[in-house]
Amino acid sequence: MGPIETTRPRLAPAFGEAIAAYDLPTGVHSARVGALARAVGALLDLSEADLEALTFAGTLHDLGKLGVPERTLAWPGPLDAAQWQEIKRHPTIGAELVRSCCPPSGGSFCHQLDIAAAGIETHHERFDGSGYPAGYAGEEIPLIGRIVGLVDVYDSMTQQRSYRYRAFTSEEALGHLAENAGTLFDPTLVPVVIEVAGRR
Ligand SMILES: [Fe+2]
Repeated sequence: MGPIETTRPRLAPAFGEAIAAYDLPTGVHSARVGALARAVGALLDLSEADLEALTFAGTLHDLGKLGVPERTLAWPGPLDAAQWQEIKRHPTIGAELVRSCCPPSGGSFCHQLDIAAAGIETHHERFDGSGYPAGYAGEEIPLIGRIVGLVDVYDSMTQQRSYRYRAFTSEEALGHLAENAGTLFDPTLVPVVIEVAGRR
C-alpha cells in the first residue's frame, strides 16, 4: 500500500478527532450529521462513492470552525457584523482544508475530496438563495450540500447546546423543516429527511 492508500481511510477520522478535541459537542453533533446524511443518501440510492463523499462532508461540515477565533464561536450574546463575517468564512475554510489534502498525483481520491469539499462549502446555502457564503439557490447548491444543510439544521435544533435554552423535540425540528420546504430547504429532500429521522 502506498502513502495515499494508507492516508485515505484515516483522513476523515483524524479531522473528526481534531473537531472533537476543539469542541466535544460539535464533534458529537458532526458524527451524527455524517451518519444521518448517509442514511438520507442511501434512501436516495446514491452510489457508494457518493455516499462516502456525503458521509465525509457531513462528518466534517464544520471543520472550518477550527479557523474561526474561539472568542467568536463562544460569544454569548448577539454577534456584531465583524463576528458574523468571521463565522461566515467557516464553510470556505473547511472546504479549502479538505481540498488541500488532495495528493499531487490527483486521481479518484481527489475527485471524491472535491465532491465532499463542495458539500462542506455549501452546507449553509439555502434553497431560496438566502444562505451563505455564495447565496446559491436551488440546484446551484450541490445535492450533498443540500442534504448536509438539512440534516445539520435538524440535528442542531434537537441538540441541547446551552443550559439556558431547551432543545427542540424531534417532532418540532421536523415540523420546522416541513414548514420551510420549498423556501429554505429543497422540497424533494425534506420528506426523505423526515422519513430517516423518524426511524431513529
Ligand atoms: Fe456550519
